[in-house]
Amino acid sequence: MTATLIDGKATAEAMRESIKRKVEVRLAAGQRAPGLAVILVGSDPASEVYVSHKRKDCEQVGIISKAYDLPATTSQQELIELIDQLNNDAEIDGILVQLPLPAGLKADEILERIAPTKDVDGFHPFNVGRLAQRIPLLRPCTPAGIVDLLDGTGHDITGMHAVIVGASNIVGRPMGLELLLKGCTVTTCHRFTKDLASFVSQADIVVVAVGKPGIVKGEWIKEGAIVIDVGINRLDNGKLVGDVDFAAAAERASFITPVPGGVGPMTRAKLLENTLIACESLHK
Ligand code: GUN
Repeated sequence: MTATLIDGKATAEAMRESIKRKVEVRLAAGQRAPGLAVILVGSDPASEVYVSHKRKDCEQVGIISKAYDLPATTSQQELIELIDQLNNDAEIDGILVQLPLPAGLKADEILERIAPTKDVDGFHPFNVGRLAQRIPLLRPCTPAGIVDLLDGTGHDITGMHAVIVGASNIVGRPMGLELLLKGCTVTTCHRFTKDLASFVSQADIVVVAVGKPGIVKGEWIKEGAIVIDVGINRLDNGKLVGDVDFAAAAERASFITPVPGGVGPMTRAKLLENTLIACESLHK
C-alpha cells in the first residue's frame, strides 16, 4: 500500500475532546448543557445501532440526549406533534429523526417540520438552501466531516476535480455543495451515469457513497488521488467493507479513508458539533 490512511477515528476523538471542553466551560459559567432529542421509529437493527452510538457520544461530551423510541405503528400526525413539542422545548437544541422511517411515514414532511435552527442533521430544505447559496448554517454531518478530513491532509484542494459517486440527500448532493464551496470542480455520478470508470479515473478527489461493495474499482483511481469511502457494507462473512476496492485503490491513491474508522466516526462527531453550534449560536 502506498496511500496514507486518513484516520477519522483520531480526528473525531480530538473533535469530541474539544466539544467536551466547551460544554464544561458552559456548565462552569452556570449555563445549561446542550440538549439533543434522538427519535427512533420502529426497530430497524442498523438504525438501533447508529442511534445507540449517537446517544453514547452525547454522554461522553456532556450533551444531554433525550431518547424517543416510538413503535413502527406511530402515525405521521403523532410524529409531527412530537416534533412540534420539541421545537418549542427550550432545553432542546437539536432534533434528530433517524432515517429510514418505516414505510407509510413521509420523511420529507417530517424533516421539514423540524425548526431549521434545531436541524442538526442539516437535512431541512432551509439548511440545504443556505449551503447552496454559500451561507451555511447547520451543515449535513457526513459531507462536513469529509471536508474536515480533506483539510487534515494538508492539501489545498482549490481547483481540484472532485468526482462524487452517489446523489443522495444525505451525502452526495450536499457533498457537491461543500466541495463547490472549497473551490473544487465537481462532477456528481449516479445510477444513470454512463461509464462511471471514465469519470472516476479523471478525479483528484473521489467520494463514494452508494452502499455497494466494490462499485469503484482500484484500477480506476488516478495515481495520487484522494479517496473517500462513505460506504459501510457488511459482507456475508461478517466483515465490514466500504464501496471502494480498498487494497487496489490504496496502491494508487495518495490518501484513503479506511472502513471502518474513516468517515463514520466523523459523521458522529459532526452531529455533536452541530448540536453545540445550535446551542451556542442559535438558541442563546
Ligand atoms: N440514516 C443514515 N444516515 C443518517 C444520518 O446521518 N442522519 C439520520 N438522521 N439518519 C441517517
